[in-house]
Amino acid sequence: MTSREIRQAYLDFFKSKGHQIVPSAPVVVKNDPTLMFTNAGMNQFKELFLGEANIKYPRVADTQRCLRVSGKHNDLEEVGIDTYHHTLFEMLGNWSFGDYFKKEAIEWAWELLTGVYQLDKSRLYVTIFEGDATESLQRDLEAFDLWKGLISEDRILLGNKKDNFWEMGDTGPCGPCSEIHYDMRSDEERNAVSGATLVNADDPQVIEVWNLVFMQFNRLKDGSLVALPAKHVDTGMGFERLVRAIQGKSSNYDTDVFQPLIQFIANKSGIPYGQDEKTDIAMRVLSDHIRAVSFAIADGQLPSNNKAGYVIRRILRRAVRYAYTFLNFKTPFIHELVPVLSAQFHHVFDELKQQEDFVEKVILEEEVSFLRTLTAGIQRFENYIGDHQSIDGNFAFELFDTFGFPIDLTELLARENNLQVDMEGFERALLAQKERSRAATSIDTGDWIPVNDQQESQFIGYDHLSAHTEVVKYRKVSAKGKEQFQLVLAETPFYAEGGGQVGDTGYLRFLDNNEKIDVLDSKKENGLFIHFIDKLPSTLTGTVEAVVDESKRKDSESNHSATHLLHAALKEVLGDHVNQKGSLVSPDLLRFDFSHFSKLTYEEIKQIEDIVNRKIRENIALKEERQVPYQQALASGVTALFGEKYGDFVRIITFEDAFSKELCGGTHVKATGEIGFFKIMSESAVAAGVRRIEAITGSKASQVIREYFELMGNLKELLNNPKDFVSSLSKLIDENSALKKEIENQIRERSKGMLADLQAKMIHVNGINFLATKIDLPNLDAIKALAYTLKGAVDNLFLVLASEIDGKPNLTVMISEELVKTHQLNAGTIVRELAKEIQGGGGGQPFFATAGGKDVTGLDRAIEKAKDFLK
Ligand code: ALA
Repeated sequence: MTSREIRQAYLDFFKSKGHQIVPSAPVVVKNDPTLMFTNAGMNQFKELFLGEANIKYPRVADTQRCLRVSGKHNDLEEVGIDTYHHTLFEMLGNWSFGDYFKKEAIEWAWELLTGVYQLDKSRLYVTIFEGDATESLQRDLEAFDLWKGLISEDRILLGNKKDNFWEMGDTGPCGPCSEIHYDMRSDEERNAVSGATLVNADDPQVIEVWNLVFMQFNRLKDGSLVALPAKHVDTGMGFERLVRAIQGKSSNYDTDVFQPLIQFIANKSGIPYGQDEKTDIAMRVLSDHIRAVSFAIADGQLPSNNKAGYVIRRILRRAVRYAYTFLNFKTPFIHELVPVLSAQFHHVFDELKQQEDFVEKVILEEEVSFLRTLTAGIQRFENYIGDHQSIDGNFAFELFDTFGFPIDLTELLARENNLQVDMEGFERALLAQKERSRAATSIDTGDWIPVNDQQESQFIGYDHLSAHTEVVKYRKVSAKGKEQFQLVLAETPFYAEGGGQVGDTGYLRFLDNNEKIDVLDSKKENGLFIHFIDKLPSTLTGTVEAVVDESKRKDSESNHSATHLLHAALKEVLGDHVNQKGSLVSPDLLRFDFSHFSKLTYEEIKQIEDIVNRKIRENIALKEERQVPYQQALASGVTALFGEKYGDFVRIITFEDAFSKELCGGTHVKATGEIGFFKIMSESAVAAGVRRIEAITGSKASQVIREYFELMGNLKELLNNPKDFVSSLSKLIDENSALKKEIENQIRERSKGMLADLQAKMIHVNGINFLATKIDLPNLDAIKALAYTLKGAVDNLFLVLASEIDGKPNLTVMISEELVKTHQLNAGTIVRELAKEIQGGGGGQPFFATAGGKDVTGLDRAIEKAKDFLK
């Protein structure tokens, strides 16, 4: 079977078992502060396990793109070195939400592997959880008995908490698990050593393929386990490993998942794969990393200098470094892999195909800039080893952190120069950095404390701006020493930050005692609507009146609807390649990032503004459709955003069917006329291939326009209200520069007239022509010009000019170059010394320096002092 067929067989199999097949969630996570990237298929269902959302389908299956490069599950350093870890991988999963449990999960897994995929039973092993006394958890005898019906007992192994109790993170849903392992060794090896001894022992040929998790608990912040409201199944099968087992390969990279990329790289580098371990590793790194980087970008995460963007940048740099060092790619190459990859994933994850040009462009720009850094880093390394006997841990860390050098490559560079790297020091520096970033971003979130039995919360803010409701639960949060509280209401009119629109603010009034608490922000966490408050009311029970700040909400709505109009206008004027790459909608302004490759011209900006304002004047009524089936929405030609996770039912916001139709969860004006007026304030670049527009609407726009008019009014008045302002102003500027020239001419004439006089005043001592004198010229330029003229006319000159300009004292020292050399005279040193007399300071070059000061009476003293230098 090809990998495509294997994937499809998985989905078909679970479909036949009554599962709904759902799309992969984006690999970049939004709305979950505990995760940057999707690291398991179950992430997108977290709230279903916790009982915080409605279960639409009790049985679900999919293939989920996952990234394990940060946090609890991190495989990055293994990748490429071994043959079965990846940054991005596909996790095939099937789920039961309070429906079937261990029996079906185990039996179906076995049926699929041995029946459909025909895997060799004599190579399969399974593990079950042995129990854990400290957690008061029993051995999973139920799973044991179920397996006994399918596989001989000596192939059922016990596993400890590390291997057989799966947890999403430090907190969250978890439970005992049962893993399925596959032994890929030759018969000879298998006869010599039993595979049972190699399970979970890091043997590259005896690997875990599938993990069946029986979700039963929620791990709380204090470490305790509480039972979930229902029991669930969460399974995850490593797709690339499964393909390898079925295709009988000894490495994931030998399967048709990676070979197209590897062969492309081999071809372009002129080095065959399989020839040499070093170049093989490099090819594996490239073929793996391009997948992580491409999908992260396609899902909306651009490489950057912090957080998730930095993780992506580092992965890409690791790839560039390997390509450069081992495969001799000295110019950008990695972006060329994007089309190969997007063809492979066509009809699986179409996000990439649809954004191929964009992703390629972003990677190319990153490569170009990193190759520059790399050259600088290698230079830095060479300078360093010039005067060091070994590579200090901190220096290795600097290369790692600033120049993106993976540590294994620094070690290699060191070895080539017969040097050692202080690995312990490096690890220490790395750990210290992790600590620093953890401390900087760490938010201490307490467990939820229930106030009533209700679990779910409902958003009613599309239709209401206030509500009478109750508190469901709350928790304490401290970030950077500041304490806050978060609170969930049974029903809330507060819009939680999402789709770029900021969260609502407002207040809660607890009716029992009339206590009023301000709501500072509203955010969504998974499916939960959370209100931020900085103090708790004295009592949390009873009826609460929740009231949204209406005027702020209305301003946000204007900006949000204007954003949709802008998006449509951009596509109309610039083309269909324009896609939203980021959006901020606040009461004050809207900011819209979009893919486009060149600066917008003035003409284009004007056209866009005109379209948006015309649509505003047409006063198009909002068409809001809730609960439209996703596929139906797509078929109607709606604009969906990349990197968004859409449910089965979506909300469509339309302003004129043929103009703007977007999937959107935000709040909007009832008709475009409410926006009033739209004005673009700036257009700029954010990253390679991404432009940014900032704009204002409504009352904010009229305020800004009024200010512009006032400013213009003042300017016109200064010019006595001319008929044609621009030509009057430019006439004024011309006149001004003509006058300047005229004055400069006069000054030149005047200083020419001074020349003879000054030369006459010179003293000649030991071949030095010395002059220190006061001079009367109106500006420093004129004095400088005079000094240069004198230097041109007089050899061996030592000149000090003292002047007063606009009431301030100045000194200028000029020394002929010969004197600088022969007499070690330095104008900079001299002027600083002389400036003390005028209470000032200055500096310059050895032959010319100037100083300014405060005390004009010191000019004479400075002249006297200059003579000392002559001596
Ligand atoms: N969530 C389980 C895992 O990631 C299936 O292994």
